[in-house]
Amino acid sequence: MRAAPARHPMERRSDWYTHPKYYEAIFGTDTEKEMDFLLGVNQQYGTGGSLWLEPACGAGRLVAEAARRGLEIVGYDISEPMLAHARRRLTPAQRRRIRLSQSRMESFSAPELEGRVDLAFNLVSTFRYLDSEAAARAHLESTRRLLKPKGVYVLGFHLTEYPRTTFERERWVGRVGRDTVVCNTREGLPDRRRRRSPMRNRLRITGPGKDMLIETEWFFRTYDGPQARRLFRLAGLNLLATYDFDYRLEEPLGRGSTRLDRVFILQPGVTS
Ligand SMILES: C[S@@+](CC[C@H](N)C(=O)[O-])C[C@H]1O[C@@H](n2cnc3c(N)ncnc32)[C@H](O)[C@@H]1O
Repeated sequence: MRAAPARHPMERRSDWYTHPKYYEAIFGTDTEKEMDFLLGVNQQYGTGGSLWLEPACGAGRLVAEAARRGLEIVGYDISEPMLAHARRRLTPAQRRRIRLSQSRMESFSAPELEGRVDLAFNLVSTFRYLDSEAAARAHLESTRRLLKPKGVYVLGFHLTEYPRTTFERERWVGRVGRDTVVCNTREGLPDRRRRRSPMRNRLRITGPGKDMLIETEWFFRTYDGPQARRLFRLAGLNLLATYDFDYRLEEPLGRGSTRLDRVFILQPGVTS
C-alpha cells in the first residue's frame, strides 16, 4: 500500500531563499523579457558595454541568462543556498563568464571593479530589504562607484501608497517537475513613520507524495516617489527614465504615472 502524502509539514518563519528551486519556479518566468529589456537599456541609456553586475543575484537565473547572451557578469548574494543553486545550474561556458560571491548589498566591495561596470541591475523589489536610509544609501553609493561614468544602475521596486487601507495581495502558480508551486504574497499596511511594511509569503508545494507549506515573514522598507528620488539624488545618481514591470523599452512612464511597480534607470551624476 502506498503511504499517504504528508500533510502540511509547516515551516513557519522559514526563509524561502533556503528553497531556491521553488523560489525560481515562481520568479523565473520573466527572465528572458527582463534580459531583453536590460540589453535595450544598455544600448539606449548606457555604454553598450559587456561587464555587468547583479547585486543580490539569488539563485542565478539572470546571471545565467546574461552569460548565455555573451556578457561578463559579477553576482553576489547574502544567501549561500541561493548561491549554491546558482553554481550548480551553470554550464562550463557560463562559468567562465560569471563570478559569484557571498556578500551583502550594504557592504559589497570590489576595488578591482571601481569605474569599470557598464550596467548593474537589481529587480523585483530586492532593494527594499535594505532596512534603513543609511544602508540603502551605502548600497547605492558603492554601486555608483563601480559604474563607468556613463554606466547605468537599473533598479526595480514597488513604491508605497501610504494612505492605502487594504492589504496588497499577489498570487502566482509555477511548476517544478511534477510539483505545483502556489505562491501567495501579502503586503500589510505601511508604517509611514518607521518606513516599513510587513510582508508575508506562502509557498504551497504539492506533488506526488508531497504537500508542503513554507511561510516567510519579513519587513520591506517603504518609499514613495519623492522619498526614492531624494535618496537617488543624495547617493549621487541621476534619474534618466522610469519604467514599470512590463519592461517595454518604448514606453517610459510619464511624470504623472500612478504605477507603483517602477524600474528606475540611474546614472552616476554630481554628488551633493
Ligand atoms: C527576490 S530575490 C531576487 C533574486 C534575483 N535577483 C532574481 O531576480 O531572481 C532576493 C534576493 O536578495 C537576497 N538578499 C536579501 N537581503 C540581502 C542583502 N542585504 N544583501 C544581499 N542579498 C540579499 C536574498 O538572499 C535573495 O536571493
